[in-house]
Amino acid sequence: MATLQMSGIEACVFDAYGTLFDFNSAALAARDELGDDWQRLSELWRQKQLQYTWLRGLAGRHADFWQVTGDALDFSLATLKIDSPGLRARLMDLYLHLGTYPEVAETLRQLKAAGMKLAILSNGTPTMLAAVVTNSGLDGVFDAVLSVEAVGVFKPHPSVYALASDRLQVAPAAICFLSSNAWDAYSAKAFGFRVLWCNRFAQAAERIPATPDGEIGDLSALPPMLVSAA
Ligand code: LAC
Repeated sequence: MATLQMSGIEACVFDAYGTLFDFNSAALAARDELGDDWQRLSELWRQKQLQYTWLRGLAGRHADFWQVTGDALDFSLATLKIDSPGLRARLMDLYLHLGTYPEVAETLRQLKAAGMKLAILSNGTPTMLAAVVTNSGLDGVFDAVLSVEAVGVFKPHPSVYALASDRLQVAPAAICFLSSNAWDAYSAKAFGFRVLWCNRFAQAAERIPATPDGEIGDLSALPPMLVSAA
């Protein structure tokens, strides 16, 4: 694939969970208790967590991501018939200590050194996001850490994407948005950002508006696309 060059980008805005932070690292860290179920639990927990955000959005019954994440975990533990004292609290705490994907720190360092504005735009609550940023040593890296709680509705509501443009004071067309969550990448493109889908999990293309500008396998591909084209 020829390297896509993107010119005129002033800010990179990242999704949090699945893009910067590895949501599987919570269940993996509790493998001593979960055994071989860790992967099934992690997958179901994530699927249910996202479904609950969409369901609450459609029903107009917002609750913050901490509650939704806990509700999804309760559903998943019950479905898999996992009942271990203290495990729920342990997994929720691990969600505040998620690891980053291997290329994240170096990619952010390169982008920052090149003068790019950097931000997170996430469903996570301000408390959840502050915790994962601090616990992964990324304090001071981002110009803004933006939570949907500022607008009271989850992605992919357009008002969430508007928040990044408003807060950073950068036009949507000068923002490169990155998400490994295909539905998030497509919806950000439909809003008007320039978008790279970080397709970590080699998923098929979605059939929703609108197709991202490009696709990368992980974030390390990003700096050369932006920096040399600036
Ligand atoms: C987020 C979810 C969608 O961080 O990964 O917003």
